[in-house]
Amino acid sequence: MIQSATIQDRLDVYAIRQQFPVLSREVKDKPLVYFDNAATSQKPQVVLDALMNYYTEYNANIHRGIHTLAEEATAAFEATRDTVKQFINAAGREEIIFTKGTTEGINLVAQTWGRQNVKAGDEIIISNMEHHSNIVPWYILCEEKGAILKVIPINEDGELMMDEFEKLLSSKTKIVSIVHASNALGTINPVKKIINAAHKAGAVVLLDGAQSSVHLDIDVQDLDCDFFSFSSHKVYGPTGVGVLYGKKHLLESMPVYQGGGEMIKEVRFDKIIYNDLPYKFEAGTPNIADTIAFKAALDFTNKIGKENMRRHENELLGYATTQLEQIPGLKIIGKAKEKVSLISFVIDKIHPQDLGILLDNRGIAVRTGHHCAQPLMDHYCIPGTTRASFAVYNTKEEIDSLIQGLQRAIKMLS
Ligand SMILES: Cc1ncc(COP(=O)(O)O)c(C=O)c1O
Repeated sequence: MIQSATIQDRLDVYAIRQQFPVLSREVKDKPLVYFDNAATSQKPQVVLDALMNYYTEYNANIHRGIHTLAEEATAAFEATRDTVKQFINAAGREEIIFTKGTTEGINLVAQTWGRQNVKAGDEIIISNMEHHSNIVPWYILCEEKGAILKVIPINEDGELMMDEFEKLLSSKTKIVSIVHASNALGTINPVKKIINAAHKAGAVVLLDGAQSSVHLDIDVQDLDCDFFSFSSHKVYGPTGVGVLYGKKHLLESMPVYQGGGEMIKEVRFDKIIYNDLPYKFEAGTPNIADTIAFKAALDFTNKIGKENMRRHENELLGYATTQLEQIPGLKIIGKAKEKVSLISFVIDKIHPQDLGILLDNRGIAVRTGHHCAQPLMDHYCIPGTTRASFAVYNTKEEIDSLIQGLQRAIKMLS
């Protein structure tokens, strides 16, 4: 089971901030306020140390070497797999496939499981709030196979219309691929219900865990999802590493993804025997350093405890929501009852881009634009939003700075 840290009434956020070197820098002569955590989180010193330590102490290629450095690097790399297994409560370490990130995990499933199981006339269900990385791989597969992409609509608050989902499900549905928590709205989707219903219809379910993995406790066995894809860099870890979890029997039944070293047992010109899980899906030299440092990020998260993080982040979310709602002309996009700690909003007659530039002049980093969710922006008939997303190291004072910055920007722009 997931290790639980002691539940604390209040986090010492200032002590946590000390662990993130970048947070002490200034931008445009102002203290950095980093509210772009949904795009990528900052990295604690332990992660930077793990990276440096690998390169200075035991840089070597993994798995095949018999020398000390290779053995140390292999042990550290495989230790991350064990930590990931615990982090999401997978049944076995062979169910943990290292990828480049969430995007690659989804593409892997589309190109292997999808190509093997989806045929002309079959249906794939996604939703109106998906990130492009959970739309395009399925679109490509549908184009190739003559399959049909079905989309679960959302209501005005940015919640999935579950009754519509039930109507879309049928014996033609092969896979339901759904975002666990939306990067553009913050909505936490009722994935257990979705998984249950999809399984009853005979479909498998992939969860895009890019945003949920840092905020929510993930227990893939309890969820009973068939695939779960997420990225290290949104969980305080390095870029370039991610995880695809898959149920063992599915991973075993799937054809290989990329060919090369590591994913084979034997190669002859007339016959190739592929490797066992998880290596079957890990062709070539992986991102060793970042994978090793990813463990440090997960240890950091486990040490503080997701529940403690969540409590702090939810407090920030509540505070920011109340403050933002008082700004005339500001509209929050995404008012689901269950949300992760991010807020998207638009302001009358002000382009998000202009707002982003003015906030940056005050050292405040927010994200503006379509957040890789163009169909969602089309649903709301807007070109984009401004998004502030909160992490464990953010403070209420920083939210006050954002509010002041917004008030100034509105005065200048309107
Ligand atoms: C919901 C969601 N899905 C997928 C992705 C893609 O993640 P990555 O770029 O790390 O592969 C993101 C990144 O922002 C995301 O927020």
